[in-house]
Amino acid sequence: MTATSVALIGANGHGLHHREQLAEHERRGLVRLVALADTQPVTDPPDGVPVYADHLALLAETKPEVVIVCTPPHTHLALTRDALHAGADVLLEKPPVLDRAEHDALLAEQDATGRVVQVGFQSLASPALVRLREAVATGGLGTVRQISVLGCWRRDDAYWARSPWSGRRTVNGRPSLDGALANPFAHAVMQALAVLDTPVIRVEVDWLKVRPIEVEDTATLRITLAGGVRVLVAVTLAGEDFVDGELTVYGDRGSAELTFREDRLRLPGEPAAQLVAGRSTLLENLLAFRASGTPLLSGLARTASFTTVIEQLRAAAPPYQVAPEALAVEDGHRTLVGVNDVLRRCATEGALMNELSTTWGATVPDGTAND
Ligand SMILES: NC(=O)c1ccc[n+]([C@@H]2O[C@H](COP(=O)([O-])OP(=O)(O)OC[C@H]3O[C@@H](n4cnc5c(N)ncnc54)[C@H](O)[C@@H]3O)[C@@H](O)[C@H]2O)c1
Repeated sequence: MTATSVALIGANGHGLHHREQLAEHERRGLVRLVALADTQPVTDPPDGVPVYADHLALLAETKPEVVIVCTPPHTHLALTRDALHAGADVLLEKPPVLDRAEHDALLAEQDATGRVVQVGFQSLASPALVRLREAVATGGLGTVRQISVLGCWRRDDAYWARSPWSGRRTVNGRPSLDGALANPFAHAVMQALAVLDTPVIRVEVDWLKVRPIEVEDTATLRITLAGGVRVLVAVTLAGEDFVDGELTVYGDRGSAELTFREDRLRLPGEPAAQLVAGRSTLLENLLAFRASGTPLLSGLARTASFTTVIEQLRAAAPPYQVAPEALAVEDGHRTLVGVNDVLRRCATEGALMNELSTTWGATVPDGTAND
């Protein structure tokens, strides 16, 4: 197999991770990095790889077979469209776009150009998710009534100052949505939606922030799917003890648990979670699609439900700010005291934060359950 030519647009930030992965794939003879593009000076470009400030010049001059788009979300539509029109397949970082009109426009561009977009939701490449879906489809859990996600991480002041779109809801008049749900926990939200892959009917959220940013760092999100199953996502970036992201599927014959990034799965009747090995990267999967038609794991169409959720979150009232007395502040970290217990209860009971009593609730005028 000849190595596929790949270009990377957005070469700093998370683009550094793509460069590492490309170097590893290049060593295996799968790809050839032909160019980088970034509107800012590129950190440590690899020897012999041309760097462009203008992605259109890159596309015209190097004609890559695959383009990775790893730029801020508000730039995704235009850059991906240009790459498709230049004849490339695209690995587009999540969130793909920020409303359904843009999502549908990109789906139409795929059809018009005959190319494909794989979205960077690596949680959809989880072999544990495949096994969980099989168990659900074959009735191993009985009738599914709820899917929940619990994640408690910590992000400090430096994280919220990492780039111009950090903590922002809009950039240059375009939506950006750098909150816990659309950015760090996007993979968990997408994975929860992918357990059933059924359409989203209703979205409700109660969310807050512990510092003066425009987006949420703590959220409970309840999604009602066609057929009535509820997805409850309870996450924070101002957490106490670390919880990576526990996905639980509740059925009337038992529950199953999957750890979000480790591919460990426990099905009903099993005493403990076990590793489900064999995860491939989304780039490998895209190369396999190009070579032999292997189905895309995170194709653009499959991620439309995520964009539906994001669109609804854009329309919701902004997150409220909790009072300083609800926080423990140390070394650039602000911890919302009691948040882990509250989110765990929300995940179990299918509740939004403002439907339970919380220590910080008294400091908030009336909560913000939006739907
Ligand atoms: N899959 C994951 O786990 C993961 C992790 C982190 C970030 N991301 C996603 O990756 C994307 C980039 O995030 P980031 O944290 O690296 O952002 P960033 O702002 O740190 O870096 C983005 C880079 O894109 C460049 N850029 C912006 N507009 C450009 C344009 N028009 N042409 C060329 N370059 C341009 C910027 O100069 C910057 O170097 C986002 O969509 C983010 O959600 C995904």
